[in-house]
Amino acid sequence: SPQQLVLGIESSCDETGLALYHSQKGLLAHALHSQVDLHARHGGVVPELASRDHIKRVLPLLNEVLHQAGAQRQDIDAVAYTAGPGLVGALLVGAAIGRSLAWALQVPAVAVHHMEGHLLAPLLEDPAPEFPFIALLVSGGHTLLVDVKGLGDYQVLGESLDDAAGEAFDKTAKLLHLGYPGGPALARLAQQGNPQRFRFPRPMTDRPGLDFSFSGLKTHALTTLRETPEDATLAADIARAFEDAVVDTMVIKCRRALRVTGRKRLIISGGVGANQRLREQLSLMGQAEGAAVFYPRIQFCTDNGAMIALAGALRLAAGDTENAGHIDVRARWT
Ligand code: KG4
Ligand code: ZN
Repeated sequence: SPQQLVLGIESSCDETGLALYHSQKGLLAHALHSQVDLHARHGGVVPELASRDHIKRVLPLLNEVLHQAGAQRQDIDAVAYTAGPGLVGALLVGAAIGRSLAWALQVPAVAVHHMEGHLLAPLLEDPAPEFPFIALLVSGGHTLLVDVKGLGDYQVLGESLDDAAGEAFDKTAKLLHLGYPGGPALARLAQQGNPQRFRFPRPMTDRPGLDFSFSGLKTHALTTLRETPEDATLAADIARAFEDAVVDTMVIKCRRALRVTGRKRLIISGGVGANQRLREQLSLMGQAEGAAVFYPRIQFCTDNGAMIALAGALRLAAGDTENAGHIDVRARWT
């Protein structure tokens, strides 16, 4: 197949990510602007502020990745952008700029599903997992266990019936007054917590199936906080019990997914995949099961442009492009 340089644009939530992926040489450049500081004082992502900030960041980041790669706009052979799911205004920024650029350069545009970006992110690393594999995708909006048979051949084995894993981390962090973004702050606090003090349930592990439920853990954290007299380590001990319960539940479900499918490879991706304890515990489980466990580097677990450029390059190589003139994004996309 011809050599292709693919530009990736991610703008589905609160990170603006751009990257250049070359079909033969791999990832040539990536740059990211996080809006954490912009949203922190509001305690969460404010969609309108997110959209406006993406508008300011995309073109400077484009110049930055071109500079890093020593390339010109004219060298770009295709433009991949996140078309959903996500915040519709934020998505529209990446889609409008991505499609306009593709039209101006007379190259194909590729609409990428954000979760497929997460799913393929481990392929940015060396060694890259070969198909087939089981994917645990854990982000702020999704919790999915997927049997990945090949590119675009995905069977969802299980998902969260209520809160996504990241959402549960964020909500529990909020009730412990840890601010935004909650997941990383809760994980930091949990390091000082005593794992013996509280034991939280492992939801939906006592019956067959691969679905998840995390909203009960958040309630459990709230009840524990209210019913225990305040002391210096209470918040840390709750954080630790919560994290252990989430991690343990995911380990149990991933082991079950490997066993029922007979797959020998597991990948973990999405923002919660940045969690150190989750990475450690899944690696230990993989060793015991004789399965290889793969992760993207931490910065490619959370939202980034590199995974979108890679997904675009693979979709392009599979003949999947759009040339229609309209800009279409989807806040929800199965
Ligand atoms: O994939 P991502 O960057 O954005 C979405 O597509 O949602 O995931 C963000 C989520 C947030 O809920 C955040 O709190 C969580 O990932 N997260 C973590 C950690 N780092 C990010 N959760 C637990 N431990 C972490 N170290
Ligand atoms: Zn994401």
